[in-house]
Amino acid sequence: MLLGKTIVITGISSGIGARIGELAVAEGADIVGVDLNPPARPLDAFIKADIGSAQGVAEIVQTLPRRFDALCNVAGVSGMIGAAKTLAINFYGLRELTEALAPRLREGGAVVNVASIAGYGWRANLERAKAFVSARGFSDLGPLLAAHQVPDGEAYPLSKELLLLWTMRAAHQPLFKDRGLRINAVSPGPVTTPILKEFRQIFGDPRVDDDIARVGRAGSAPDIAPAVLFLCSDGARWINGANLPVDGGLEASINATVLGF
Ligand SMILES: NC(=O)c1ccc[n+]([C@@H]2O[C@H](COP(=O)([O-])OP(=O)(O)OC[C@H]3O[C@@H](n4cnc5c(N)ncnc54)[C@H](O)[C@@H]3O)[C@@H](O)[C@H]2O)c1
Repeated sequence: MLLGKTIVITGISSGIGARIGELAVAEGADIVGVDLNPPARPLDAFIKADIGSAQGVAEIVQTLPRRFDALCNVAGVSGMIGAAKTLAINFYGLRELTEALAPRLREGGAVVNVASIAGYGWRANLERAKAFVSARGFSDLGPLLAAHQVPDGEAYPLSKELLLLWTMRAAHQPLFKDRGLRINAVSPGPVTTPILKEFRQIFGDPRVDDDIARVGRAGSAPDIAPAVLFLCSDGARWINGANLPVDGGLEASINATVLGF
């Protein structure tokens, strides 16, 4: 289902993005990797850039091919580098890049945003999420953060709440909808990649261990990659604006606790 497609993957140099790249190539796709750090293995096409800055996004847009079939937004940070930078990378840069690239996605193409179970609170925090999603971009971030007093520890969950809310919104935006572009999210639970160590520092071992205990084990990058690539494929042609939890049942378990069933 991916044979001959060209897929752009951010965050290609580690963890989930690296595995998505390997699997996409094995399935016959051409890939273009984007990352701040060099890839572990040489790639035919790689762009070294920071998606968390206007300049980095502009460089990526300038360098990418004129036409491609899917964009996997995988690059992300844990929140350790502070709220402003975390939101710039995990949401505002991702959105700016996606909106700039949408006209170059082939008709019927797909965007897949790697969100997280950490974005679960988007409904509970809807008013705050709406305010942040409504902001134009990087330049509004400082005043917004000052107005909403977001502690650094909340930046990661907030960034993923925004990503989930925007995924649903974008599915109905003319920019995507009018050309039959689908935009979906995948929300992993805890996955054994380098970022998990940082989650342990930010959220604490008990929280991470409880999430893992609820579903019996942590995930691995190969658990996540097939779901992302399925959403890129034509097999997902009637799936749009959706969030697919890929977490061994963690979201179902949290729903049971939160909703009391
Ligand atoms: N591992 C988990 O437990 C987990 C759980 C839920 C969601 N996620 C999400 O999955 C995605 C991938 O994470 P991972 O587990 O593979 O982590 P990872 O740390 O292994 O990989 C993240 C990649 O993003 C790149 N990156 C970071 N900042 C960048 C920037 N400014 N510009 C370009 N590239 C940048 C890094 O260099 C790295 O290669 C992230 O969005 C993360 O939030 C991970």
